[in-house]
Order: sequence, then structure tokens, then C-alpha cells
Amino acid sequence: MLARRFLSTSASLPPTIRQLLAAPPSTYAPAIHVNGWVKSIRRQKKVAFAVITDGSSEPGLQAVFTDINLAKQLTNGASVKLRGELVDSRGAGQAKELQVAEAEVHGECDPETYPMQKQALTVEYLRDHCHLRARTREIGAMLRLRDSTTRAIHNYFEVGLPLLSSDVQSHYRQDNGFIHVHTPIITSNDCEGAGETFRIAPSSSEPSCRSASPPSSDAKPSDYFNHPAYLTVSSQLHLEAVATALSRVYTLSPCFRAERSQTSRHLAEFWMLEAEWAFTSSLDELCTVVENAIRHVLRTHSTSPDMDALWKQHPSAPAQARRDELHSYASASRPWTRLTYTDAINILSAHHAATGAFVFPPVWGSGLQSEHERWLAEQHARGPVFVTDYPAAMKPFYMRMNDGCAPDRQTAACFDLLVPGMGELVGGSLREERAGLLEKALERHGLDKSDYGWYLDLRRYGGAPHGGFGLGFERLISWMSGIESVRECIAMPRWAGRMLL
Ligand code: 4AD
Repeated sequence: MLARRFLSTSASLPPTIRQLLAAPPSTYAPAIHVNGWVKSIRRQKKVAFAVITDGSSEPGLQAVFTDINLAKQLTNGASVKLRGELVDSRGAGQAKELQVAEAEVHGECDPETYPMQKQALTVEYLRDHCHLRARTREIGAMLRLRDSTTRAIHNYFEVGLPLLSSDVQSHYRQDNGFIHVHTPIITSNDCEGAGETFRIAPSSSEPSCRSASPPSSDAKPSDYFNHPAYLTVSSQLHLEAVATALSRVYTLSPCFRAERSQTSRHLAEFWMLEAEWAFTSSLDELCTVVENAIRHVLRTHSTSPDMDALWKQHPSAPAQARRDELHSYASASRPWTRLTYTDAINILSAHHAATGAFVFPPVWGSGLQSEHERWLAEQHARGPVFVTDYPAAMKPFYMRMNDGCAPDRQTAACFDLLVPGMGELVGGSLREERAGLLEKALERHGLDKSDYGWYLDLRRYGGAPHGGFGLGFERLISWMSGIESVRECIAMPRWAGRMLL
């Protein structure tokens, strides 16, 4: 009864096509309205068929016009409002169809000039038309996958796989105790120290915001904040500040990196899931939280029509095989491999000595190359693998130094999660909570201590052992869906040399 009211009450939002297709027949109002865009149209002598989509699901809704005059104005891409009756379909392939009684065109679409013609459109063509590409099946499915992944992430931190022991969990109604916070996009420092920040300034020396007074009336653009300002490369340092008050926090935020790498894994603007929590001294605990988070997301998608549709794009990896593979990673009975960087180098070196497999011989003290990362995940671990305790010299200043290392083998308490087909998906570490050692690390990295006074304060006043991680959201989408490049895992990609709108 409730559903019937929902479907027919004009004051409420009308149902989407996904909702209509999922609703049991008893809930249909006698006549319904559907708004959407014409995906395809096929005219016969006495009848016309159109597929209408509103982006809520794929495939759209089949509309049948027994009065072909009603379909006259319809062209691919036009936006329309149809009224009719939803009935069980007589055709194969869909359960329901709309018998159209009235049709109205909201917006015409010239079939001669419409850039999204029906023939196969190349990835590059779609990148050139990214204002229109959300209309394609793949990008539509990807955007819905981003949505469901975001929801799964929030759900994980709220109630997801147990992070707490089961007795505590039941007492607190499965509350994992993480608090979602918002961190600034404009920052005063380069968290990763890799020199990949975008520096920002107002577009003119005039104040661009009326309510804010500039530092002085003749301020130059760069003086707006009285300090150099950058777009954030990572929310970590700010999350650390909040974690020293709220204990367990996370955020899903945009990050910006002036990367020059033209790879399928790098964007100039991407989204990162970052979590940070106090009172941990255990790298294993960090890895477990990451492992459980990704497992939770994979399980949420174990039956996802959008994921199925995306997998089907890749005939080399049949959808069922891909589903089985991800399902096996989601299973708690198969813990993900964890090994130290030193062990990884030894394993890679032995393999290289036996087969000469790598272009870059693995060497202790050098970063793992993409070919090493993928071999470790795909051939050695045959699944996601955490590589821990990298040499400190190749890592940012904030990572906690491991105790008891040989002077020439100093490592940091950190990890990267490498996954098959992708390489690095997550990076994290314990943070250096000892103020004295942190100051030395800032010096070693040539960073100005005065810029990090507030960060040192977090250690000076009630500092606590803590740690966290960052997960590349587009890389997660790419890995789960089989979409080859992260450039197709975000609506409007930006990378060096490309920003169309
Ligand atoms: O390893 P990264 O640089 O770690 C950090 O930024 C930490 N401060 C995070 C933390 O501990 N809170 O980046 C984390 C992840 C990478 O593993 C990768 O998945 C993704 O962010 N990432 C990118 N994704 C797309 N385009 C880029 N340019 C990326 N750079 C990093």
C-alpha cells in the first residue's frame, strides 16, 4: 500500500526506472510517468520500440508505441516524458515494458550532430567528450559503482566487519567507533614532501571573496593567506590532528598531485580514503583494518549488476572468473599475504637470478618497480599482498622509525598493499610520535621546522602512538571493475596536459 502511494503521489519524487523495474506488479499505479533519455529507437510499420534510460540502472526501460505517431519526434539522446502502463513484457530480455499512451519531448537532440552516435566510441573519443560520456553504459555503471563503494566504505567504518572483539561489538551494537570528518583542501604544506603540490592564489590581486578581508589592501595574489597555499596532496596530517582528540577518524576527500606520470594509475585530481587512529602501535592492526575494509567493499558488491556489466567489457577475463577471483579475496578464510620489504627483495632477487624476469633488478634500498609489485601480487602471493617495513630513506618524514635496525638498514613501520593487475592500492604507516625523532626527520628531509610547529605540538601535548592509511579510490574502482585506466574511473579526469571542463 505504501509503495502504491509512493509510485502515484505527484508531490513526492517520482520513482526512477530502477525502482519501477524492481517494484512488484501490485505496486504499479494504473498509469505511470517515466522521465529519461532515448537510448535507442526502432520503428516498424505499426509499432515502435524505444529504450529509455534515466541512468538509475542499465539496461533502461523498453517503451512500446502502438501509436507510432507518438514516437515521431523521438531521436537518440532526446530527453522525454512518457506516460503509460507498465506491463509484463512479451519480448525476451526484459521483465517489464511501458505501453506508451502519451509522449512529450523535454529536449530535442539533433541526430545529425549528436556526438554520442551509436557506433562503438573509443576511449580517447570519450575522453574528448567527457561532458557527455556519463551517458555511455560503461561510465554510467562506473559512476554507480563509485556511489555504492562510497556507501560501503561509510558502512564499514560505521558497522562493517568487526574491528572490535565480538563481545565488545555486540555491546556497542557493532559500532566500530570511527568518526567521519572533513579536512581542508587548501593546505600550507606538502604532506608527502614529494614536491608534487599545486600552489594556489586568487586570480587577481583583488579579494575574490567579499566577506574576507585580504591581509593588506595592496596584497599580491600569493599574499592572500600570508603564506604559500597548496591544494592538499593528502589529508593525513590534518587527520592526525583530529585523531589526537577524537581517537578514530576517517575521510574520503579529493587530493591533488602535480604528477608528471602518464600512467593508467595516476590522476592530477583523485579521491582518497584516509583513516587515522590513536593508541595503536601495531602495523598488523593497520593492515587488518585495511584488509577488512576492502573485503567489506568486495562483499557488498558480490551481486552487483553494474560490476557484472563492467566485467563483461573484458572478454579476456570472463565475468564469472572475475567474480570468483574477487570473491576469494573477500573470504576471511584466506588471509592476505604479509611480508617485509627485505623478504620481498630477497624473493624478487631469487626469481630474477633464476629467470632474468625483470627489466630492473631488485635492489635493497630502491623502490619496488611496477613490474616487481605486480609479480609479487600476481605470481608470488596470487592475491593482495602487504609489503611492510620499507627503507626509511625512501619514505616521507612522518613515518615511525623501526627500533633496533642496523644503521645502514633503517626501516620505517609502514606498508603498501599491492593487488593483482594494479600494484599499489593502499599506503600506510605508524606515525613518528616521538617529538625529538620527528624533528630530526624534518631536518633530514630538508623541511622547515617552523612550518610544522603545529604538527610537533601534537606530539608535545598528549602525543599518543597512532597510525593510518590512504587508499586511492579510483584505483579501487579500477581494480574491482577491470576498467583499465583510472581516467575512466572518475567523471571528469584531470592529468598533466588535460583538463577539458
Ligand atoms: O602512498 P600515498 O602517497 O600515501 C599518502 O598520501 C599517505 N599520506 C596516505 C595516508 O597514510 N593517509 O597515497 C595513498 C594512495 C596510493 O596507494 C594510491 O592508491 C593513491 O593514494 N594515489 C593515487 N591515485 C591516483 N592518482 C594519483 N596521482 C595517486 N597518488 C596516490
